[in-house]
Amino acid sequence: MIRRHLLAALPALAAGLGTFGAALLGAAPAAQAQASYPSRTISIVVPFAAGGPTDTVTRLVAEVMARDLGQSVVVENVGGAGGTLGAARVAQARPDGYTLLLHHIGMGTTPTLYRRLPYDPVGGFEPIGLVTEVPMTVIARKDLPAANLAELVALVRKEKTGINYANAGIGAASHLCGLLLQKAIDAPMTTVPYRGTGPAMTDLIAGTVDVMCDQTTNTTSHIRAGAVKAYAVTTEQRLASLPEVPTSAEAGLRGLEVTIWHGLYAPKGTPAEIQARLSKALQAALRDERLVQRFADLGTEPVSQDRATPAAHKAFWEADIAKWRPVIQAAGQYAD
Ligand code: MLT
Repeated sequence: MIRRHLLAALPALAAGLGTFGAALLGAAPAAQAQASYPSRTISIVVPFAAGGPTDTVTRLVAEVMARDLGQSVVVENVGGAGGTLGAARVAQARPDGYTLLLHHIGMGTTPTLYRRLPYDPVGGFEPIGLVTEVPMTVIARKDLPAANLAELVALVRKEKTGINYANAGIGAASHLCGLLLQKAIDAPMTTVPYRGTGPAMTDLIAGTVDVMCDQTTNTTSHIRAGAVKAYAVTTEQRLASLPEVPTSAEAGLRGLEVTIWHGLYAPKGTPAEIQARLSKALQAALRDERLVQRFADLGTEPVSQDRATPAAHKAFWEADIAKWRPVIQAAGQYAD
């Protein structure tokens, strides 16, 4: 009876104490929620379609994080608008650690590329840790009449805009690599946008689009199977996973060295204890032998443990935004 009276009196007491008092009274359940975190399924939003490179990386990481966290971690694909729809979804979610985002270099370019967004592309998130940096490959449908990069360049120049280039929208890694490629060969292609390079790859294999530049986490198995042609990897050294594919410099192109970094985010305001717990689980995932092997098969590797932390991720992300801002501004190429 006494307890019931006390409970009934709490709202009035909180009102009497003002905001500070109400916050104090609310602090106990919030602290308990953090202590028992996670107590239910966590969702990681991938801002691109299923079956693509971000999806592949996220599913591998989610599976091991789930073991460390003792809860299910599901992947939700929210593709479209170069990754901004999925990012918006997470920026606007409750900051309780149950809705996360795994996104790539687009988090570095989007804040400048998109001048009108329904969310804050920098202030809307808490970085949890970096995940990996993935090389890219310049690939084509297997019957495109160009045996190597030099022949591709000749074909693109001859066909004017007649060669199609698949990408995942403005701000996507495939968009960025396509811009670098077209600049390097000094000839335009016709862009065909998708919600992610997973579905774009399906069309490339079917032969309905011509060319794409995509991450090895999506292309390696299709290159090995001969389902698509590979002209170059965008790294300074050849990859152990694709030893027969030349580097872009070997293939005759300068200025096409790029890797795609990925990071895990929570919505702004997620409690520091929850961020730390997630970072710990991410680090555990990136140490997992099976995950390291799967990443290696796909041409990549996890970042070092000290980079899978909120502080290292924040510093890297801020530097990447600063790196891309003048480049995008000078090009004057905005998404709006
Ligand atoms: C994807 O997961 O579909 C890709 O990362 C899209 C891209 O950025 O090219």
